Amino acid sequence: MKKSDLDRVYDRSGTQCIKWEHLPPDAPEGALPLWVADMDFPCAQPILDALHERIEQKIFGYTEYDTPACKGAVTGWFRRRFGWEIDPAHIFFSPAVIPAMAYFIDALTAPGDGVLIQRPVYYPFTNIILGGGRRVVNNPLRYRGGAYEMDFGDLERKLADPGTKGMILCSPHNPVGRVWSEEELREVVRLCSRYGRWILADEIHCDLVRREERHHPILKVCPEYADHIVVCTAPTKSFNLAGLQVSNIIIPGAAFQEVWRRQAEARFAISTDNPLGFAAMAAAYNRCEDWLDTVNEYIDDNIRFAREYLEKRLPKAVMVKAQGTYLIWVDLRAYCADSKRLRELMVRRAGVVLDEGDIFGKEGSGFERINAACPRCVLAGCLERMAGALNEGSLLISSS
Ligand SMILES: Cc1ncc(COP(=O)(O)O)c(C=O)c1O
Repeated sequence: MKKSDLDRVYDRSGTQCIKWEHLPPDAPEGALPLWVADMDFPCAQPILDALHERIEQKIFGYTEYDTPACKGAVTGWFRRRFGWEIDPAHIFFSPAVIPAMAYFIDALTAPGDGVLIQRPVYYPFTNIILGGGRRVVNNPLRYRGGAYEMDFGDLERKLADPGTKGMILCSPHNPVGRVWSEEELREVVRLCSRYGRWILADEIHCDLVRREERHHPILKVCPEYADHIVVCTAPTKSFNLAGLQVSNIIIPGAAFQEVWRRQAEARFAISTDNPLGFAAMAAAYNRCEDWLDTVNEYIDDNIRFAREYLEKRLPKAVMVKAQGTYLIWVDLRAYCADSKRLRELMVRRAGVVLDEGDIFGKEGSGFERINAACPRCVLAGCLERMAGALNEGSLLISSS
């Protein structure tokens, strides 16, 4: 595949896709959706071929995940891409990452216990914590000069509280796009180990990092704390396979493996892979490195394009440095500090559907998350509409 192939706009209508076909009810006809985190790019050809071949076999019964073919695809990928050696016995199947984290929280905590997250952060973390009657312990990221960092002093204070049982680490971080350095990861682990707290590390965006960045798997950086860490990975963001429901949960510790067998496998009966998910994952991990590299380059270019565009047309917007994920996180408070009004301007006036910053926590209020995994002309259309609405909107706001 060439980079220019990604310029082509594919019509996703009729596929029941949430991003384009299930827009919020107030979105006008013809609204451009750059919200839900999937790509508007077609899957790599080897994945499509593998799916066709599997469909030709015509029967889709129960499928075993614990095979050398499946686990070998996973271990090979992380060895080649990250130099991270995973023991196949430590890999467990889950249809998706968020339910896996929910099972662990349910099993490792009691109602009323605290689980730490770092807002603004992917909002389903909050839902799975509160949904089970647990408490959110927020360790807000620090936003300074258009960049985010962890507040380690606050992190330590909150981990020291006996009510905080563990934390969810988002690495790379959605929505702020941070790729954590080895030093930052070591500091998180040092603090968690000091207070005996576990870490659920969500590394679903690990393959999507910008040219000059490098993702560090936490288990590679801090193997000494492996018994207390669970890493959630998946080919679904990287290869646009979210609908096929296939994720890999890396659980090195025997006690946590027992938790998984009891909770996810015995209690909730999660263990057999879906045959199409497996076929797609094996093809992705074994044969699609080039495709992923090309997509990452295209996203690099999209992000550069957005930065230049915003500098020209919305000079008061602050686009946070995107190190990882394919998401742009932009601070629009200089145009509209009221998040309800900002949403109205985006959806109703601009006709763009984005993820409003405040859904990730109040720290995200006045920000917008823009999904840049789309053809450049779609991104350009979105930015153009935003600029039109905000330039016009800011006049209205100041005159009202
Ligand atoms: C950080 C993060 N974790 C998890 C998910 C969803 O994963 P899954 O569909 O496997 O539950 C997303 C999707 O956007 C995400 O950004």
